[in-house]
Amino acid sequence: MDTNKRKELKVSAIRNGTVIDHIPAANTFQVIKILGLEESENQIYIGNHLESKKYGTKGIIKISQKYFKKDEISKIALVAPSATLIEIKDYEVTNKSKVETPSYIEKIVKCFNPKCVTNNQHIETRFRVITDHHGKMKLKCHYCEKTMGQDNIEFL
Ligand code: CTP
Ligand code: ZN
Repeated sequence: MDTNKRKELKVSAIRNGTVIDHIPAANTFQVIKILGLEESENQIYIGNHLESKKYGTKGIIKISQKYFKKDEISKIALVAPSATLIEIKDYEVTNKSKVETPSYIEKIVKCFNPKCVTNNQHIETRFRVITDHHGKMKLKCHYCEKTMGQDNIEFL
């Protein structure tokens, strides 16, 4: 294969569906997990460690025949605040938006406090998303009120 031909190979365009672009490359598979795409039967294209002018490298996920509701997709803000959501209809970009940080995160994150009721009984976790005075995103447990930063976030 000559080099010109190689340059043309990219993640395929989709006809209808959603493109999630500008994902930090280290978190692409976490986004897949948060959105439950492992179980999806839609056609999905994944590119990772692709070159990006803005971010150095990035991940991209393209899901055919799927449009997300705002509250479905906002969960990914925890690991991909830079992500762009693009809706495609009949090969055309019909909508582009940034991912919005949700007010609450339910079920997907574990509370880091071992004494928290959610770690000792069958209670689903719930956190309020707060921003500290440095502008950093933190999660405050609805049950034990402990606050954890990005470094303590463990996904269930
Ligand atoms: N895309 C796609 N299928 C299409 C049209 C677009 O998968 N039928 C993807 C492109 O690969 C790109 C994204 O949707 O990753 C946005 O498309 P477009 O706005 O055309 O690309 P750019 O102008 O390069 O966007 P940006 O500069 O925001 O990365
Ligand atoms: Zn807790």
